Amino acid sequence: MTPTPIGSETEPRDSDSVGQRLADTSAVGADNPLRDPRDRRLPLIAGPCSMVMFGVTGDLAKKKLLPAIYDLANRGLLPPAFGLVGFGRREWSDDDFADYVEESVRAGARTPFVEDVFAQLRAGLRFVTGAFDDASAFERLTEVVGELDRTRGTGGNHAFYLSIPPSAFPDVCEQLANSGLNTPRDGSWRRVVIEKPFGHDLASARELNDVVEKVFRPEDVFRIDHYLGKETVQNILAFRFANQLFEPVWNANYVDHVQITMAEDIGIGSRAGYYDGIGTARDVIQNHLLQLLALTAMEEPVSFDAADLRTEKEKVFKAIELPADLAQHTARGQYVGGWQGGELVKGYLEEEGIPADSTTETFAAIRLDLATRRWAGVPFYLRAGKRLGRRVTEIAVVFRRAPFLPFRDTDTADLGQNAIVIRVQPDEGVTIRFGSKVPGTQMEVRDVTMDFAYGSSFTEESPEAYERLILDMLLGDPPLFPRQQEVELSWRILDPITEFWAQHMPPAPYRAGTWGPETAYEMLARDGRTWRRP
Ligand code: BG6
Repeated sequence: MTPTPIGSETEPRDSDSVGQRLADTSAVGADNPLRDPRDRRLPLIAGPCSMVMFGVTGDLAKKKLLPAIYDLANRGLLPPAFGLVGFGRREWSDDDFADYVEESVRAGARTPFVEDVFAQLRAGLRFVTGAFDDASAFERLTEVVGELDRTRGTGGNHAFYLSIPPSAFPDVCEQLANSGLNTPRDGSWRRVVIEKPFGHDLASARELNDVVEKVFRPEDVFRIDHYLGKETVQNILAFRFANQLFEPVWNANYVDHVQITMAEDIGIGSRAGYYDGIGTARDVIQNHLLQLLALTAMEEPVSFDAADLRTEKEKVFKAIELPADLAQHTARGQYVGGWQGGELVKGYLEEEGIPADSTTETFAAIRLDLATRRWAGVPFYLRAGKRLGRRVTEIAVVFRRAPFLPFRDTDTADLGQNAIVIRVQPDEGVTIRFGSKVPGTQMEVRDVTMDFAYGSSFTEESPEAYERLILDMLLGDPPLFPRQQEVELSWRILDPITEFWAQHMPPAPYRAGTWGPETAYEMLARDGRTWRRP
């Protein structure tokens, strides 16, 4: 009998064929009360498989990955033939692990806790105790995934999720190879998932990739940049290429400049060990912001297949030009203590685990230009930082001023520039800003906005980024995962900047709760522009 997905009583057609695209999605999980039958966003069900998670007790697994796996199960998108194996040092039994998973699911899942769904998931949970270089633990792991194949029908399909620091990759990859776990048999698959940071510069990214690709085929390596899993980020492509309205003005003839902002109100929390020495540019600009830039700037891909999409993104990365004078066109900051959200917060140098003389940046702003016909002369300003005014990620495409304004002798003194703002998060949606006549007898024009908000236009809730990415990986569907070429191209852009900063530009202080250091404002003022206040 065809297996039934977890959380559904309806048989999916051919669900045991990995990556099977269902033409009619209405049958999938239709009996699941949580599943809206009109929901065609995630119409595919993963085939039988098990996932081995390294770093399962880490923050990411606890807060995001385990809840996402449960949410997928709850939406009927995981097969019953699913196993999840935690691997770590803790002396845990399978039951201890299951309790831990339940706790994380109850605390972090997006969908309600359904006993039956969790019970079915729980039956496939296993734990293997061991260190990453412990050959005997990998022997036990081999037995456990074999047992899941036999007892739960996971079909020899195994995904290895490395939610661990890159320094642990060599050990894990070596042990996976020694135990033969990386080698698929009889038409099954083996995949590996790696989380950013993909190195800390071009050279280390290459080394890391060599370690992984010595053991897994390039097409079996899934690199996660969780921004690509966000609905609003995928919507950039829909917004641009599903509409006739915007693309004709999406170029240097009409666009003055683009501002991409990723502001966070949080500090570094307990992540000193990871963050110090890395800093904002490597943490989020090399990956999330450059991906946003690529999706905003790229040409229309021939199709949305992985190869076509990645090719267009890579063309953008290749066309990026750094400013000739990095001192004038980049800015770097570090937060000092201050009031934020009614709370007095510590400065970066006072955070636990941070050396008092650290020069790691917690704010970065960079001007990039693109040498293409579409974008010549249109600067892309990227900025990101911690402890800024509020949490917001947005892409603002700011248009040129109208060539002539026939309002000289009227009350219209100063009009802003038209803008299209893609609001990635929170308050997801799109805003268009334009001038409109103020009601009254005078010809006064003032800036107004027109809004699309996900919350009011759709009844469907957006899945979490990790739901989408984990499902795509289990389906073997790669478009949302950057390939190594993209990673290398983005380090090529960043390396000269971080090298320049290390030698010539210590971070300038900015008070927590503000929008970054003065140098960031000066950087835009030099170009006669100002940052938007998101
Ligand atoms: C991660 C960074 O990739 O993204 C973190 O390492 C950052 O420093 C996080 O806080 C932000 O993600 P999101 O989805 O909350 O914008």
